[in-house]
Amino acid sequence: MDLQSILNDIAAEMAAAPDRGKVADYIPELASVDAKRFGIAVALPDGRCMTAGDAEVAFSIQSVSKVFTLALALGRLGDQLWARVGREPSGLPFNSILQLEQENGIPRNPFINAGALAVTDAILAGHQPKELLGELLRFVQTSAEDADIHINEAVAQSETEHGDRNMALAHFMAAHGNLSNRPELTCGTYFHQCAIEMTCRQLAMAGRFLAGGHGAPHMISPQRVRRINALMLTCGHYDASGDFAYRVGLPGKSGVGGGILVIAPGRASIAVWSPGLNRHGNSQLGTLAVERLAQATGWSIFG
Ligand code: DON
Repeated sequence: MDLQSILNDIAAEMAAAPDRGKVADYIPELASVDAKRFGIAVALPDGRCMTAGDAEVAFSIQSVSKVFTLALALGRLGDQLWARVGREPSGLPFNSILQLEQENGIPRNPFINAGALAVTDAILAGHQPKELLGELLRFVQTSAEDADIHINEAVAQSETEHGDRNMALAHFMAAHGNLSNRPELTCGTYFHQCAIEMTCRQLAMAGRFLAGGHGAPHMISPQRVRRINALMLTCGHYDASGDFAYRVGLPGKSGVGGGILVIAPGRASIAVWSPGLNRHGNSQLGTLAVERLAQATGWSIFG
């Protein structure tokens, strides 16, 4: 299989795609990103990495960061984490507050915003935000084998200034006793984790610990890897998770920066980036590109 030429073909098709979706603008700092960008990278377990398009341009990983905080949280709290957040798909948009009211402040899963806030809050307890963010960056840098990965302060600031919805989610959880830190502190830390920037190459490399296989970095136990992949499949694309599983057949986690991390267990870690989003807040062309990649390679967890 000639992966490089598959990626070249996909990049060429995406460059010509007429409908690129709409760049997120509720975080003003993200609104100025060029909608024409498209990058894709496939990292094999041993660290060989093939790329096409804008795969060396850094973008805001946003909700893709929730995969890394979940890995840290499971390492630190183990199954105790599940007292604070569920493991079911929500069937609602990523920033919805509806179920929080009906379900006593326990978010449905760690990938919707409320759930990610609960995860960040849980690992923040007893630490300074700077300390925790340092630990998170080291985790990402170690798994990517690349120290040149940073937080974009302007993006974090921009989201802080427009973070009313996340603050509402945090306050709601606090009212139900499901927040250990002040909402400002938990949200501030969460906005910074979302503002991590990576290139497709770096993100694909960083995801190898979830792909496993010979030569992949061992960051967490194989059982936890499987569980994170299960949650990515069922909840990683919010109310479009079923559609992503149907079209791509692999676990994936999206972010409103237009990035998606996709795991082909035992085979590869894939990162794709195209800033235009569909109506569910997931990358429009990114989804199409990984659908094409899965078709061309035959990679699927469903046989
Ligand atoms: O909390 C937010 O709204 C953003 N920092 C992250 C949301 C996100 O990436 C949703 N994913 N598609």
